[in-house]
Amino acid sequence: MEEADILVIGSGIGALSVAGQLCKHKRKVTVITKGLKKACNSSLAQGGISVALSKEDDYHYHYEDTMAAGCNLNDPEAVMKLVSTAPGVIKEFIESGMVFDKDEKGELAFGREAAHRLNRVIHAGGDKTGLRVVEQLIRNLTTDVTVKQNEMALDLRVKDGKCCGVITRDDKGEKHIYHANYTILATGGIGQLYPSTSNDVTITGDGLAMAYRAGAKLKNLEFIQFHPTMLTIDGNAYGLVSEACRGAGGILVNEKGERIMEGVHPMKDLAPRDVVARQVYAHTLKGEKIYLDISAVKDFKKKFPTVTSICEEHGVDPDDGKIPVAPGAHFHMGGVEATTEGLTSVEGLYAVGEVACTGVHGANRLASNSLLEGIVFGKLLADYILTHPKKTENFPEEPIKTKLKSLPTKAEIREKMMEFVGIVRHEKKMLDILDWFKQYMPNGEDFTRIDPDSATNEETELYNMVTAGYLIAKAAFSRKESIGAHFIKED
Ligand code: SIN
Repeated sequence: MEEADILVIGSGIGALSVAGQLCKHKRKVTVITKGLKKACNSSLAQGGISVALSKEDDYHYHYEDTMAAGCNLNDPEAVMKLVSTAPGVIKEFIESGMVFDKDEKGELAFGREAAHRLNRVIHAGGDKTGLRVVEQLIRNLTTDVTVKQNEMALDLRVKDGKCCGVITRDDKGEKHIYHANYTILATGGIGQLYPSTSNDVTITGDGLAMAYRAGAKLKNLEFIQFHPTMLTIDGNAYGLVSEACRGAGGILVNEKGERIMEGVHPMKDLAPRDVVARQVYAHTLKGEKIYLDISAVKDFKKKFPTVTSICEEHGVDPDDGKIPVAPGAHFHMGGVEATTEGLTSVEGLYAVGEVACTGVHGANRLASNSLLEGIVFGKLLADYILTHPKKTENFPEEPIKTKLKSLPTKAEIREKMMEFVGIVRHEKKMLDILDWFKQYMPNGEDFTRIDPDSATNEETELYNMVTAGYLIAKAAFSRKESIGAHFIKED
């Protein structure tokens, strides 16, 4: 048995933000991550952080834009908490050493992304914001934080609605049982359930599946944001082409150079992401190729070094002015129901970042609100822990008899998810995928807890994928109207 006061599962911005705030107060934190510590969606994030810090901005405008992007399905209090706390938290982050890009006057430079009424997005290193933020947060950690890499969380230790830690297995096959006073899920979203995604390879819905098995309430799982512009060649996606490229003047065109967002939405190429993603998708379904025309973007390579290197690695020269694109799964608005301080319905279990659903994003997330969410709600969770001392009872592990059944491949899961619960959904088809998933329930009735020794880490990951896929399909089937990222086409 290993002891941890505060145990964080995951290593993205939410995880590092909580750990960084707690270690300032000399609290001991153990961070467990399935891959290397920088292997997370936050490191890949090209967009920036939206925050009402410019002279012409006001957090009430940020509130209104966030609510409008989320189709007003957001939790208004959670949104207000996010946008009003953000300016102070970001200023504090800058004081801790974080350097954001500046304009020619040496002031913070604010960029534009979809559905923001004014320039509100701050960046670091152009499109390297996520990586720079992660690096700074890692620099801010002290020796009170222990980071365990290449160790996968297999299941939460739960009894009678209380969580007292986690069972993990490292890459040498050794199992570890942790007792913790606070167990925090910061495992990110579910992007790898889809064939094209901007997400890191480690992002397979593990937190969602574990929380479900622990009996935690889940919320809004049907809302999955597809990013309209992944660099896509011959149907294969190779990385994100940031929306900031459209903010800087990029436009979406077909093979004839005709604009595809003309007449579709008043904000054209900067319409909300679900609208743009559906339009690009509709064209690609007809067999057309869609490009991001960047010929009007000055200094593209300097402004977008990450997009440039992804393009060049795959034989696309941005100087030609055209990048082939198609949509890919990007962000999960739904997740483990949590307060803005990270409390879930299971005592002792907390959730922060993309795995959590605080209701802040509603039916569709406003661009660059996710790094912000990780930093701000990470701090609020740390503040909660600092002001709520807690000793969690350590329950003995009870043996589980249920063993894993044979599972589909990742490719099979991804193909089904895209066809049945992808960008466009059909009510009847969603029933079919539910039946398909049900055959993988180990006891024929549910995606229950399994004997952790009956599955390798890879099999546990697949089990988490079928569990998360099933839960997403079930939520999608239950929501009968199209709203935000959940779009149903009548047959
Ligand atoms: C992007 O750079 O387009 C992504 C930004 C975000 O998802 O917030």
